[in-house]
Amino acid sequence: MTGRKKQKIRIARPPAREDSADGGNYFEVRPAKLGQRLEGLSALTKPGVRGFPGVEAAQELLAQTMRKDRVSGEVLDLTAAGGLLGSLPGVTLRAVEGSAAALTALEAAGYAPLAAVPGDALAERWPERARTVALTLAGDRGNAYISAQIAWAHAQTPPGGTLYLAGDRDKGFDRYVRAAGAAFGTGETVARDGGMRVARLVRRPGPTPPLPEAEQYGAFGVQVVGLPGVFSAGKADKATALLLETLDGLELSGQRVLDLGCGAGLIGAWAAGRGANVTLVDGDLQSVRSSRLTLEANRLEGEVLHSDVDSALGEQTFDLILTNPPFHVGRGVVLDVALEFLAAASRRLKPGGTLYLVANEPLPYETPLRDIGPSRELARAGGFKVLAATRD
Ligand SMILES: C[S@@+](CC[C@H](N)C(=O)[O-])C[C@H]1O[C@@H](n2cnc3c(N)ncnc32)[C@H](O)[C@@H]1O
Repeated sequence: MTGRKKQKIRIARPPAREDSADGGNYFEVRPAKLGQRLEGLSALTKPGVRGFPGVEAAQELLAQTMRKDRVSGEVLDLTAAGGLLGSLPGVTLRAVEGSAAALTALEAAGYAPLAAVPGDALAERWPERARTVALTLAGDRGNAYISAQIAWAHAQTPPGGTLYLAGDRDKGFDRYVRAAGAAFGTGETVARDGGMRVARLVRRPGPTPPLPEAEQYGAFGVQVVGLPGVFSAGKADKATALLLETLDGLELSGQRVLDLGCGAGLIGAWAAGRGANVTLVDGDLQSVRSSRLTLEANRLEGEVLHSDVDSALGEQTFDLILTNPPFHVGRGVVLDVALEFLAAASRRLKPGGTLYLVANEPLPYETPLRDIGPSRELARAGGFKVLAATRD
């Protein structure tokens, strides 16, 4: 064992295979748990949607502020999550999302949502822009992504139209409002609750700021194209690097390989470069776009799907599944999605097929891995471990 580091990871609850944080099944869509201040409003949710089992605190303040302002008519929500703003009286919601999990919740709520990422044109779907636009900043996805979100919101707000911008003071909200205010020409913070903030900006005529460029880097023989906000967009993740170093001798030629939660596509492209027949999936549309660009940049073939875990895979099964699963650190670790990755491996591996997984050392994957079949630890270094399980 080398370079073992102490990690501050607190497990919020004991892992359970089938049940999510609120005791339901992973794919089941259910009503979001809303606080008293949102009385009369509603949203749907499921594991994997931001804020699950409730709604994000910033979105909650956004809905309260818009209700107080008596906003009505067409509202374009670029981060619609479970459709909370659509339940405001008199509002007709144009729901846009990049998260496959949120898109499922929005469809279940009857919103006919549009899957899109910052920078996408929306005029084909809605030829006339809505006078009111809403956006909750993704404070955890980095500056470049937030700049892209703001540029997108600017492009989608007609001159004279209003943008409601929500976010977290501790994740740079004030700085982002200043940047947005410079582009819009005017704007002020109109609501505060704890660290949450909402600003209202009215767009004056003027140019839309440019979208930030994708980053590019070489790793493990792959040229990676990292779009803003994608995991590990600027350099290979240490855990992913340990996984690929550990699997260096693996025979991949002709194997059906699934890269589950592909991000910018490093793992899938690495496998394709070694002759595997690859499928890459990610629940985040920006990651899907990034992975497609990575395959293209390396002139590699592969199918890349926008998928909440394995939901878009139809009947496909695989010889090998490679993954660095997501886990969310906030008030502890939320393992709903990661545990569903393991359950998906059970469903998707051919008999005799193997799941290779890398994770932070304290994460308790050994027990659920045994449900797949005989499991083993292949490496442990730098605070990470590489585990494998072969389907019986
Ligand atoms: C730790 S990152 C690993 C990314 C990439 N494989 C790498 O090693 O750089 C986990 C990935 O899982 C994706 N993800 C999160 N929730 C998901 C879900 N419900 N379904 C599919 N992918 C999801 C994230 O978008 C992210 O790209």
